[in-house]
Amino acid sequence: MSVASDYSSVACARAFPNIALIKYWGKCDERLMLPFTDSVSMTLDIFPTTTSVEFTSAGDDRLVLDGAEIRGAPLDRVRRFLDIVRERAGDIRHALVRTRNTVPTGAGLASSAAGFAALALAASAAWRLPLDETSVSRLARRGSGSATRSVIPGLAVWHAGHDDESSSAEPIVGPRLAMVVAVVDASRKKMSSREAMRRTVATSPYFDGWVSSTRRMTGEMLDACRRGDVRRIGELAEMNALRMHAVIEASDPPIRYLSAGSVAVLDRVTALRDAGVDVWATADAGPNVVAICDPSEVGRVVEGLKGLARLHVAHPGPGASLVPAAESAAEVVGA
Ligand code: DP6
Repeated sequence: MSVASDYSSVACARAFPNIALIKYWGKCDERLMLPFTDSVSMTLDIFPTTTSVEFTSAGDDRLVLDGAEIRGAPLDRVRRFLDIVRERAGDIRHALVRTRNTVPTGAGLASSAAGFAALALAASAAWRLPLDETSVSRLARRGSGSATRSVIPGLAVWHAGHDDESSSAEPIVGPRLAMVVAVVDASRKKMSSREAMRRTVATSPYFDGWVSSTRRMTGEMLDACRRGDVRRIGELAEMNALRMHAVIEASDPPIRYLSAGSVAVLDRVTALRDAGVDVWATADAGPNVVAICDPSEVGRVVEGLKGLARLHVAHPGPGASLVPAAESAAEVVGA
């Protein structure tokens, strides 16, 4: 990654969401955003977020999302993130952040992953911080844990690490997978991942079991990726997702993200598998379900899930990248 001269006034970056095959659920350090476990994911080639960062003479940061000025909690989150950037850069200037999001926001489709990966890269370019993948991944983590992995193209592992320096993602080798995103409900979810994670860590009696089983499964998942074993990847991903939902549901008070619509998709995936289609399912902190399969199975999976949800087919996508200011400005204002 390099910064050309026209990035000096406005820096723009684009990033895509990722879907975890081994989930991140639980932080052992909230301030540094250090997770209890490693996680593994695939960055998608759909639903990009494009973000520009421009210095302003105003005494505060501003956030414009899809053309509308945003205040309150989302702006506070961006401001806190930019405080980290300012501290690293030793430069206290404020910024106008404009972002265009094509992911249904807050629907458990990792909109914060793409958002903070793009913002981390754009802000790094604006403040002249290092632009290598590891540095940007480490910085993106401070905005949202899952953003750590969206900096990386295709398959990635996020090493939990033990401090700010050691917690970042890197690419891994593995087979080419396809994902069919089944959007059961695109409305904003009732409880953020951040809050639900906190409650799970504090109250779920299964949390220790979740951590130890996820640690074991990560090694197995990395092996399956190395061997190109799509079937084992799918089996592990589905098991890990169901275990994550089990540990979440066991919180006090309980939290349930999966809806009747989600269960219908999960059941259909099982039925397709029983009928000989190599397909498995995963779901993040929301009602939407993602079917995982070999790219050659996409036709049969789409056919099988039709009528249950809105379907979007995804393949491995690029990592975060800088985009020319002119191009992104047009996109950012929705021109
Ligand atoms: C279920 O990254 O959204 O998608 O770190 O608090 O911002 P914060 O949470 P977030 O959590 C994502 C959790 C998940 C699983 C995953 O992507 O690994």
